[in-house]
Amino acid sequence: MALPQYKDSPVDLSTIVDFSALSRKSVIITGGASGLGKAYAVSFVQSGSFVTIADYDEVAGKKTAAELGGSAQFVKCDVRDWSQQVAVFEAAVRNSPDRSCDIVIANAGVVGVDSLLNFQGPIHSGDDSPARALATNPMLLTEDADGSPVKPDLKIIEVNLLGSAYTSKLALHYFRRQPFAETRDRCLILKASIAAYADQPGSPQYNASKWGSRGLMRSLRRVLWKEGIGVNLVAPWYVRTPILSDKTVESLQSKGVKFATVDDCAMAMLRIATNKEINGRSFAIVPRDEAPSGAMDMAHDDYQDGDYLKDWQAVVLDTAQAVVEYA
Ligand SMILES: NC(=O)c1ccc[n+]([C@@H]2O[C@H](COP(=O)([O-])OP(=O)(O)OC[C@H]3O[C@@H](n4cnc5c(N)ncnc54)[C@H](O)[C@@H]3O)[C@@H](O)[C@H]2O)c1
Repeated sequence: MALPQYKDSPVDLSTIVDFSALSRKSVIITGGASGLGKAYAVSFVQSGSFVTIADYDEVAGKKTAAELGGSAQFVKCDVRDWSQQVAVFEAAVRNSPDRSCDIVIANAGVVGVDSLLNFQGPIHSGDDSPARALATNPMLLTEDADGSPVKPDLKIIEVNLLGSAYTSKLALHYFRRQPFAETRDRCLILKASIAAYADQPGSPQYNASKWGSRGLMRSLRRVLWKEGIGVNLVAPWYVRTPILSDKTVESLQSKGVKFATVDDCAMAMLRIATNKEINGRSFAIVPRDEAPSGAMDMAHDDYQDGDYLKDWQAVVLDTAQAVVEYA
């Protein structure tokens, strides 16, 4: 029951999505209490799936699950905690109509002031005063400027990347435990952002975590298809959800930035989850001016002819097994 191997050719995003394939599917969505995760939960339930919402916001999570009636459950979970994530997967299998785990979306994510970038002491290069450093880079924060280095709070990496790694490992475990059947799926969708492709000054952890999820997908896509497990990535442009403060939205609008839509993000999830031919692909979710369906299959995750990275990639593929064996 292998899936088609990852191919470096884009998926046609104009085809009709067959929602009937989602009936009785058990879907786990981390960060499903609000924003995009909530929109995914609503869309999957409307398509006949049973959804397990895993979120650390108990109030919003319970409210969302209640709105979705008997086709959804909420399990309180901080994705940074392995055993809490295990409990989510156990509850999904225990309470879904066919005791299954079919579709897993590693969506939970946070942004915020990045403690990795905080200025922890004088910079010893030329003019080294903290005030000078601040003047040349206003993104530096001066807490502890005169003290010893302070261990950074890596919460953004922990939630976005460590959390997604735990979710991925558990998805593989529960997919593998489930016998192959036409009626069952083995579909993992990782959540990135345009920050997985573009440099984002001031947000090294967010940038790194989203590149990290993209890296997870690109490694896993090379092997999991043999086990019938599909892995894909969804990377939205800016979308108006609670993750963007009003001030951020205003600032983006003042610079003429257009927004992608929540509905287009949800449709990309449904498209991937209903089509086993889609494997190892990354979809950017973009404003409608950029693409008629609001989604683009990212050519940047396929090296093009003439790019030296295409040759390097071929060598790495050829030697990867040897590196694992001799490690
Ligand atoms: N909105 C955008 O512009 C945008 C763009 C690109 C990517 N994304 C990504 O989409 C995902 C969802 O974002 P959103 O816009 O819906 O934001 P949101 O803030 O509305 O939703 C994020 C959800 O994740 C939950 N969460 C946060 N930390 C958690 C943790 N430790 N454990 C469990 N749950 C946790 C929150 O409670 C919330 O329900 C994130 O990964 C985000 O990085 C969003």
